[in-house]
Amino acid sequence: MKQTTAVLLAKRPEGIKVAEALTLGTIDLPELTAGTALVRNQYMSVDPSTRGRMDPGEKQYTTNFEIGGALDGSAIGVVVESASDLLPVGSTVRHRMGWREYAVVSDAATTICDLEKAPAMSWLASMGQTGFTAYAGLVPVGHLQEGETVFVTGAGGAVGSMAGQFARLMGASIVIGSAGGPEKCAWLREECGFDHVIDYRSENVREALGTVAPDGIDLFFDNVGGWQMVDAFHNMRIHGRISMCGAVSNFASGDQPSLAELIEIVLRRVSIHGFIVRDYEDLRPEFEERVSGWLASGELVDRATVYEGIGNAGAGLEGLLNGANLGKALIRLSE
Ligand SMILES: NC(=O)c1ccc[n+]([C@@H]2O[C@H](COP(=O)([O-])OP(=O)(O)OC[C@H]3O[C@@H](n4cnc5c(N)ncnc54)[C@H](OP(=O)(O)O)[C@@H]3O)[C@@H](O)[C@H]2O)c1
Repeated sequence: MKQTTAVLLAKRPEGIKVAEALTLGTIDLPELTAGTALVRNQYMSVDPSTRGRMDPGEKQYTTNFEIGGALDGSAIGVVVESASDLLPVGSTVRHRMGWREYAVVSDAATTICDLEKAPAMSWLASMGQTGFTAYAGLVPVGHLQEGETVFVTGAGGAVGSMAGQFARLMGASIVIGSAGGPEKCAWLREECGFDHVIDYRSENVREALGTVAPDGIDLFFDNVGGWQMVDAFHNMRIHGRISMCGAVSNFASGDQPSLAELIEIVLRRVSIHGFIVRDYEDLRPEFEERVSGWLASGELVDRATVYEGIGNAGAGLEGLLNGANLGKALIRLSE
């Protein structure tokens, strides 16, 4: 029987201290059966949902991890043995059996990645679930129109950096982001083409939004929740729209606003639309077409913070929660 090194959940974490809750272990790989293949993973994606799935209970939109069990999540790798005509040896594939060095994947749950369209890393970032989340939040959920003013929280992260850039490429007239620290803010302004970037750690977000968007925000793409969400409420245009993507600030300790703040939504007649990206699969071909075009033309900046080796998986996840990562966070598992 083949085995592989995997990241296991050693205990339930508290807050954003997740690295100490993870450990490496050896797990058995199932024998190949018809329709499956053995993949050597190259990169795995680090996502906030992984932190949510480390908690007990079924609070998240997928299954939660068990103590002692292996984590999983999006990964890309190369097929090294195959019992599926759909997954030839040597092909690069994306699947959900990451957080381990080798995985046995089923062809029904695996996508072949065309490296002519985008490099391997991008298939987990701009061309992956990250980019698709940004696209879903702007297009079918947010109904973005040309000429609109868009505000994105968590703009220096994976989804946020895509959401702001996609909005610009789709004709938004003012794209505003918020991020933590001068390095992220400069990157968003100078490389990703955001019109205004607010450093939420050093600036008053509510006041800054009033200055850079005096006529208000048409579409607010929220990755963060908490007080920044309320700051945006106060700056929405009448009949503005909010795409509620996530609330990563929920994992941090600190005070959270009260529901009484929702009165701002009433006063401005704002629509709030929460969404889960998997409900929009029918749009994936159009999304891949548009994003591969933007990558090819050099109009889209797709940057990742890459941690080396499976032993750094916990550091990568912790970096995502404490703001250390720029753009998409990935762990490199092999060349
Ligand atoms: N709805 C869906 O289907 C779906 C799918 C995928 C992801 N999501 C959600 O999308 C959001 C972004 O995901 P991602 O993959 O882009 O994660 P990410 O790369 O880690 O980006 C999140 C950003 O949030 C910022 N952040 C972290 N803690 C914060 C806090 N306490 N206050 C303010 N900002 C904080 C971080 O940077 P700085 O603090 O340094 O700015 C980071 O750049 C998450 O909420 C995730 O759950 C939703």
